[in-house]
Amino acid sequence: MVSTHPAGVQNAGTQYLPPRRNTSTNISPNQELLPLTAKVNSDDNLEIGGCDVTNLVQQFGSPLYILDEETLRTACQQYRDGFQRYYPGASQVLYASKAWNCLAVLAIAAAEGLGIDVVSGGELYTALTAGVNPDKIYLHGNNKSRDELVLAIESGVTIVVDNWHELHTLVETLHTGVVETLHATSLHGTRVMLRLTPGIECHTHEYIRTGHLDSKFGFDPNDLGEVFEFVSQQPNLTCVGLHAHIGSQIFERQPHRDLAAVMVEWLRDAKKYGLDITELNVGGGLGIKYVESDDPPSIDEWVKAICEVVQTACAAENLPLPKLLSEPGRSLIATACVTAYTVGSSKTIPEIRTYVSIDGGMSDNPRPITYQSVYRAVIANKLSAPLTETVTIAGKHCESGDILIKNAQLPKTEPGDILVVMATGAYNYSMASNYNRLPRPAAVVVANGEANLILQRETYQDLIRQDCLPERLKN
Ligand code: LLP
Repeated sequence: MVSTHPAGVQNAGTQYLPPRRNTSTNISPNQELLPLTAKVNSDDNLEIGGCDVTNLVQQFGSPLYILDEETLRTACQQYRDGFQRYYPGASQVLYASKAWNCLAVLAIAAAEGLGIDVVSGGELYTALTAGVNPDKIYLHGNNKSRDELVLAIESGVTIVVDNWHELHTLVETLHTGVVETLHATSLHGTRVMLRLTPGIECHTHEYIRTGHLDSKFGFDPNDLGEVFEFVSQQPNLTCVGLHAHIGSQIFERQPHRDLAAVMVEWLRDAKKYGLDITELNVGGGLGIKYVESDDPPSIDEWVKAICEVVQTACAAENLPLPKLLSEPGRSLIATACVTAYTVGSSKTIPEIRTYVSIDGGMSDNPRPITYQSVYRAVIANKLSAPLTETVTIAGKHCESGDILIKNAQLPKTEPGDILVVMATGAYNYSMASNYNRLPRPAAVVVANGEANLILQRETYQDLIRQDCLPERLKN
């Protein structure tokens, strides 16, 4: 028997339950805790994409990343359609694939019309292999290797140049003909954008703030004139745009409004150097709800705010509207995924706390130990059971700090229960490690009652695949 509950709230005494809704249209995924298709099914279990989470664990093992295709597609569509609705000029949304770069995720984003932002040769290789059109791939990075630059030039993607060293390396690489099989675009010059540090402060964790002046990323805006001058003299480079990114998990709209206005000023300045810059990329950064008290703007509100500022600023400067790009990561994918774990041992220290241990931890979700990030969880097989415990969810790593959630309110837990941590789609798998030689979990994509593997669970053989044992060390 499924208990009654108000939409998407936690009743006193029960777990957080998925909201009941007839349609998920107009719901901004980044303002939700669970994927849009989450339901309580007739067995009182959590269901996502029409699949019972406990069955998925039985079938694919534990821990398991479960990606809800509908939620990811909805977020892609809301960004894409938002720009089309609020911006009369051309636009292109890029998925910042550092959030979760793998073939299936990139294929879904590309099918929704998104381009892909990559930050390394490995991410670029994955995007090309996923069949993403190189015209829609942008390569970032503050220390790209020559090999990465060559791969980018040869495959015809746009390079977001970060600094003088890279600019010189790029010019020299093109000049000395290191690139052998040139893509057709090189006839017109390799497409580059310039990344600048806007000097805009925003309130987020200091590790994920990038737009303030003391940042390793981007050209100093004081060098703007010199950079424009240099680039305008390079026959092999076509400078198509300017880029900036101010940080991640941002809840305010003002920093991005300020950024958009500053970028239009840069655009105006570029004209003085004869550069015909037609693209502005305002980066990503929109925050998501990890716990009930988080209150980010919707995707629609965020897009609208940026589109308005760019239009107003361009009108004031009498500039034609640039092609407007943005590159969200977290707000596209975080809410689409949950991680299911199996509960194992527990330890109660009277008057202090109870630790409940699960079969994963900091290797599959390094965010709590890295950024003190907070998460919410439910026991997927006891959704309507009363909340009777306040426990600390511990990972299985040999590290005291390997705690996923402090003071989680849960029903009485037992070994074998399935604990589901919400909003784990961004920067979980992509930052996962093999610490303590734990194989990385499998991932499935779910839609309409069907589940398909998108990442195989690593095996012990996988763990030693790169190991070499020199002959003289063999026992
Ligand atoms: N563009 C650039 C140039 C970026 O550096 C980033 C994120 C994004 C776009 C996407 O930002 P988003 O929309 O996801 O906020 N590992 C950290 C987050 C690091 C973000 C790095 N850059 C975390 O787990 O919170």
